[in-house]
Amino acid sequence: MCGIVAVIGSREAAPLLLEGLRQLEYRGYDSAGLATVEATPAGPGQLTCLRAEGKLVNLQQRYEQYPAAGHCGIGHTRWATHGKPEERNAHPHLDGTGQLAVVQNGIIENHRSLREQLQASGVVFLSDTDTEVIPHLISQCLARLRSSGRAASGSLLLEAVQQVLPELHGAYALAVVWGETPGALVVARRQAPLLIGLGEGEFLCASDTPALAGFTRTILPMEDGEVALLTPLGIELHDALGNRVQRTPSLLTGTEHVADKRSFRHFMHKEIHEQPETAALWVARHLPPPSDAPGSPSLVALPLPAKVFEGVEQIQILACGTSRHASLVGAYLLEQLAGIPTSVFHASEFRYAPPPLAPHTLTIGVTQSGETADTLAALVMEEERRGLIADPAYAARLLGITNRAESSLGRLVPHLLDIGAGIEVGVAATKTFLGQLLTFYGLALAFAERRSSRSPAQLQDLVSGLRALPAQLKELVEEHDRRCAELAHLFADTQDVIFLGRGINYPIALEGALKLKEISYIHAEGYPAGEMKHGPIALLDSRVPVVSIAMPGRVFEKVLSNAQEAKARDAQLIGVAPEGPDTALFDVLLPVPAVDELLSPLLTVIPMQLLSYHIAAHRGLDVDQPRNLAKSVTVE
Ligand code: M6R
Repeated sequence: MCGIVAVIGSREAAPLLLEGLRQLEYRGYDSAGLATVEATPAGPGQLTCLRAEGKLVNLQQRYEQYPAAGHCGIGHTRWATHGKPEERNAHPHLDGTGQLAVVQNGIIENHRSLREQLQASGVVFLSDTDTEVIPHLISQCLARLRSSGRAASGSLLLEAVQQVLPELHGAYALAVVWGETPGALVVARRQAPLLIGLGEGEFLCASDTPALAGFTRTILPMEDGEVALLTPLGIELHDALGNRVQRTPSLLTGTEHVADKRSFRHFMHKEIHEQPETAALWVARHLPPPSDAPGSPSLVALPLPAKVFEGVEQIQILACGTSRHASLVGAYLLEQLAGIPTSVFHASEFRYAPPPLAPHTLTIGVTQSGETADTLAALVMEEERRGLIADPAYAARLLGITNRAESSLGRLVPHLLDIGAGIEVGVAATKTFLGQLLTFYGLALAFAERRSSRSPAQLQDLVSGLRALPAQLKELVEEHDRRCAELAHLFADTQDVIFLGRGINYPIALEGALKLKEISYIHAEGYPAGEMKHGPIALLDSRVPVVSIAMPGRVFEKVLSNAQEAKARDAQLIGVAPEGPDTALFDVLLPVPAVDELLSPLLTVIPMQLLSYHIAAHRGLDVDQPRNLAKSVTVE
């Protein structure tokens, strides 16, 4: 939530900042801003700050009118938390002299008391944000340090930031520039991501890799609590205690860090179309070629040590949003295929009402971005409360599932499954949902094989089904892209849609409803089809379409009966089901091939995504950057 970027080196900073922000705009687009410091021949430099409400394009236009010069600068793209999305609340925020600027991603939880304290000392605030306390605190600290005769320097700025950070409660990543020091900037992080990119004689620091990928491949992810002074000559890195830290940078590999829309109108559309490739990559990486040789490799190759699987008596999964929906499918598989009792929690609920501790529990944190504050905090809490118990049966066993191995989650958990879907820019998760599902199939198969909870032939059939998936997805995406584009106009005035599913497809109904809500702003509910008659059926009439997922298997007949009940209330019925006489009751059919019920969510989700996409696109909405949302939710 919010993206920050900072640069120092030999080139003009503003164009680099704007390009970095363009890559980070998925993190928030309520406003954007930048500040640069230009060196002047005599004495200190000159700080220029530009800010604009709304999307980055507005800041770009402002920059074209009022260029901000200098080789050192910071930038910000905002998702509003404290204070409305107005220009006065846009970052950077300045101190009283207008010469010290700060951008921040996170929440300063004690900002109210700090604000009162600063106001009592005469500080006048110009915004409603929590961030504005930071430049004033640093400024006051600098004034104190300088009153003892010390000259302005990068080291002095670093020292002032280090003195102020312990006063800030909460999670943050921040960057600071000072007009007095055109050759220095300071960055710091606590529980919010920040990475430094090392170029040639220049450094770029950003909240996420896409902002760095076009600049350099050599990166230094900052650890929690670290503070760094960046100058054109190098990086001075300090830990939270002020000790100098030396760390070897790492390399960004592959193209997965580069965001490119190709010929698609929206990233979401492109990412939906990338799913056959996501599946093909997953199959190639995790399903070893079939072999009859004795001692042939196991069904699924997962980069996990045997101890992750040993002695697990139950599993708890912590996640938010779409990741939670994938986890619900995962729980179904882990219970029904591998026979392990599994619970899924909203990470935000788990934090404040965790279940009583049970022994031999595997805790899985699922987050596409690897940065969702609630999911990370729930994992930390679980580790801490288990750490208080002496009995090793209660020891924390943490596993992460993410699309961003280099994220905070990657550094938090000892074991990680990287879904490897490549960068996803559209705020609505699509290909990463498929990647998460596939990861759960792999995990459940690995457990089932080790526990012999299903016969080898049954497991092998599922593996064969997974191998067929890329080709099936390719056909399905192309077909439903066409069909859903044709259908979209039917929803021009729709205000409510109900999505029904049962069993393993109930989470897909939830996901279908979430996709529609977040990008088309149509009210939608996902419901277990059998629950409709216990209340929600009262909502139905001819103006409320019902999307019903009816796949052959354990609950096929039941779902069809539930669909009939909706039809009897005049609802327009859209079926996600195989073609055939059983499914003739649907007014509109989005056909899906009749695969093994256990594999069906991998297919049924495709029409859900495309229907939402085309409805939103038909309404002319901003599909990739829906109102009020951000791609990674790094605040509680
Ligand atoms: O990065 P995460 O997977 O932890 O994000 C969790 C949710 O914020 C996310 O899935 C959100 O619901 C998406 N916008 C769904 O499309």
